[in-house]
Amino acid sequence: MLRIICYFPSMRILFVSSEVAPFAKSGGLGDVSAALPRQLAAAGHDVRIVMPMYARVHDHGRTFTEVIPQIAFDMGPHQIHLGVFAGELPGTQVPVYFVRCPALYDRRSIYGSGDDEHLRFGVLNWAALKICQRLGFAPDIVHANDWQTALLPVLLRSVFAWDRLFAGARTVLTLHNLGHQGTFAAGAALDVGLGPALELLHQGELRAGRFGFLLTGLLHAHALTTVSRTYAAEIQTPQHGVGLDPYLRARHDSLFGILNGIDDQEWHPAVDVHLPHRYSIDDLSGKARCKAALQEGMHLPDAPDVPVIGVVSRLVWQKGFDLCLGVLPHLLRRRSAQLVVLGTGEHRYEAFFHQLARAFPRQVAYQSAFSEPRAHLIEAGADLFLMPSRYEPCGLNQLYSLRYGTPPIVHRTGGLADSVWPYDADADRGTGFVFDHFTEVGLYWALNHALDHWGQRDEAGRARWLALQRRGMALPLGWQHRVGEYLEVYRRASAG
Ligand code: ADP
Ligand code: GLC
Repeated sequence: MLRIICYFPSMRILFVSSEVAPFAKSGGLGDVSAALPRQLAAAGHDVRIVMPMYARVHDHGRTFTEVIPQIAFDMGPHQIHLGVFAGELPGTQVPVYFVRCPALYDRRSIYGSGDDEHLRFGVLNWAALKICQRLGFAPDIVHANDWQTALLPVLLRSVFAWDRLFAGARTVLTLHNLGHQGTFAAGAALDVGLGPALELLHQGELRAGRFGFLLTGLLHAHALTTVSRTYAAEIQTPQHGVGLDPYLRARHDSLFGILNGIDDQEWHPAVDVHLPHRYSIDDLSGKARCKAALQEGMHLPDAPDVPVIGVVSRLVWQKGFDLCLGVLPHLLRRRSAQLVVLGTGEHRYEAFFHQLARAFPRQVAYQSAFSEPRAHLIEAGADLFLMPSRYEPCGLNQLYSLRYGTPPIVHRTGGLADSVWPYDADADRGTGFVFDHFTEVGLYWALNHALDHWGQRDEAGRARWLALQRRGMALPLGWQHRVGEYLEVYRRASAG
């Protein structure tokens, strides 16, 4: 557990990420990589962000200032030429440096559209440090996120070790999801310019013909964080460690679980620019109007007395929708409920939700898209929010749904376990509906339990439901309550 000391002298922080909202986001990493720097800056620190200039960064007519026309360097066998553009993180003066290298980043999707993924993100790591050199920015903390930026610690210990600019730099690596480790054939180590650092890499892995970005990062970062305390414990076990648990156990003294927060500027029902009607903990009438707007927008019957269950998710194995395949048709046949799903991902889940919408046209609406406004409307307009994740490092959507008065239905794992308390109607306690075992029976029980409580429409039942909503809405989930824990990790990394 971190004890937080309240005074922190101003630090220079280099924050490097493959996603930063609103410029590029595929999931929660994009949200966190905007919100945490915003909060660090608000706390008086000098934060600079580095990210790639993907094609989508230019969208919406955004323009940026060219700050470094040309950086050229050799990365292993590759001659790299890039430019650097700068903008500001919206609502702040935090500079965001965009690495412009069209051959690597000018693609439709953020990830996975070629076999050069190691080069794309290898370059990002090098570029972040080259930018510091060109700007004369001497970071106290270099904060890396996930495998895409996990080479920063080893680069600072090897290729860039000569430069006094980095003499005081300490590295922090945040693990947002161990399911993605950036593991490539061993030759990738040379390809990303780690020839001079070979002895610092995991020798057994190299002998086995593999080179892992994330493993390299967690061996060399001064401190490691992950995005909830339960996930920090889970990943030290073989069940959740995805092969990295021995290394995480070895580093447990430097591994800290810090729950993600909510960016109050983006996700608050009282100020949300995406909502047709705003509301607050004192007056939820706007939420009922959002529900009507959601039903209308998704072409479902406008029925205030039918509960709406919302889903906003990447549709991937992690998120647990396998349980839904059997449970949802059964449930929808037996209960009066509507289901609204927004998500893209693996074909089998998309096909399932398309099929479900065809089979239950008056109950189910599925939108296969990535839509920020629609995601906000679902959080606001639904009565319940479903998140049956198989594993979940933190999860942001359940936090948003708590904030929007939409009690979540979740599997007790990772950050879901740390943020949703099981509803106990008798004791008037709890904030959502939690199932312990990742089974169809568990999910079915939780859905029915939630619908039963929602269905108590007499005066006392409605008052209990309102109290449940308000408990979630009142929770201190903003990033301002988390930033101190990161600063404490930075302080420890600097002291170590
Ligand atoms: P993960 O990062 O694993 O996807 P999180 O719950 O941490 O899970 O964060 C998901 C973020 O991505 C949330 O901001 C959520 O609203 C957003 N999101 C996911 N799918 C969609 C979608 N189809 N449209 C809009 N936003 C989405
Ligand atoms: C990952 C995790 C999610 C977490 C997010 C931001 O994508 O899957 O649980 O909330 O990163 O940290």
